[in-house]
Amino acid sequence: MDAIAELHGRFLDRIAQAPDAEALEAVRLAALGKKGEISAMMRSLGQMSPEERQSAGPALNGLKSEIDAALRARRAALEDAALDARLKTEWLDVTLPARHRPAGTIHPISQVMDELTAIFADMGFSVAEGPQIESDWYNFDALNIAPEHPSRQEMDTFYMHRDSGDNRPPHVLRTHTSPVQIRAMQAQGAPIRVIAPGRVYRMDMDQTHTPMFHQVEGLAIDRDITMAQLKWTLEEFCRAFFEVDQVELRFRASHFPFTEPSAEVDIRCSWEGGQLKIGEGNDWLEILGSGMVHPHVLRAGGIDPDQWQGFAFGLGIDRIAMLKYGIPDLRAFFESDLRWLRHYGFAALDQPSLAAGLSR
Ligand code: DAH
Repeated sequence: MDAIAELHGRFLDRIAQAPDAEALEAVRLAALGKKGEISAMMRSLGQMSPEERQSAGPALNGLKSEIDAALRARRAALEDAALDARLKTEWLDVTLPARHRPAGTIHPISQVMDELTAIFADMGFSVAEGPQIESDWYNFDALNIAPEHPSRQEMDTFYMHRDSGDNRPPHVLRTHTSPVQIRAMQAQGAPIRVIAPGRVYRMDMDQTHTPMFHQVEGLAIDRDITMAQLKWTLEEFCRAFFEVDQVELRFRASHFPFTEPSAEVDIRCSWEGGQLKIGEGNDWLEILGSGMVHPHVLRAGGIDPDQWQGFAFGLGIDRIAMLKYGIPDLRAFFESDLRWLRHYGFAALDQPSLAAGLSR
């Protein structure tokens, strides 16, 4: 009996002091494992007299189940403590303000390109592209621009370098998106309905001119395209783009080598107090050139002018961005001033779509 009391006291102590699951398991093995002390005593019951067994048997069984219960309780307590400790380190204060995440903005030019692409796509125009470094044939000759035409002169055009002795005409930074007309005609043949937005380059710099700027070219070729359709297309575009019922456009007879007849188009606006506003006032801002594609141009693109005809236009993207978003100075567009970009830029998720509305 003393032996049992001694085991009882000793193992309960060891269980209470076991610092972790591993130590606890060692105590269990020492007591109840195959070679454990309590198991050894259980085995010794066989050698006892029936009387001894009668009292030692229940006492030993009682000890066994008590130690077993104490082991379980200690294990549960250790697990609880471990969980508490983990919860303490993994604690999260959800009431803290979120960490600031710097986010860029979409440049107004990119935004406007997306907007106008969506509008023209809705009218059945797909997007065509061409290189920014262009051969002089695509930039000038194919567009019926004679060698002596003033726009070829060095003062407007950026010419690429040729090694001395290389007598081929130098490539140019395209001065307009019109060469994409020729490339689209060659690639697709007639009929055609494309727009070509992109960068163009001219030596020019003031409040409404920068040496790099953006145009979108439009080209529609079919068997019976007329100037009336050109007018309708441009008016519909302006209504959708500026989100107004009435925009006042002024078609002025003009001259371009690649169209006949030709028209320049101005839009009514006001510049009062340095603010540029659309649809009101007594000023006009020229936003595009247009006309019926010249037969020489169709021929250069491999299209038979006796079978096909079409209209074309070249629209200044920067100009219409300034107008729509009230940005008075074009030069600021390309200065990469973060304050300007944050002020005039668009959120990345602010995607234009005809259904969602086109502006912020
Ligand atoms: N390429 C002309 C320019 O940059 C604009 C232009 C005028 C484009 C008439 C056209 C057009 O397609 O038909 O000034």
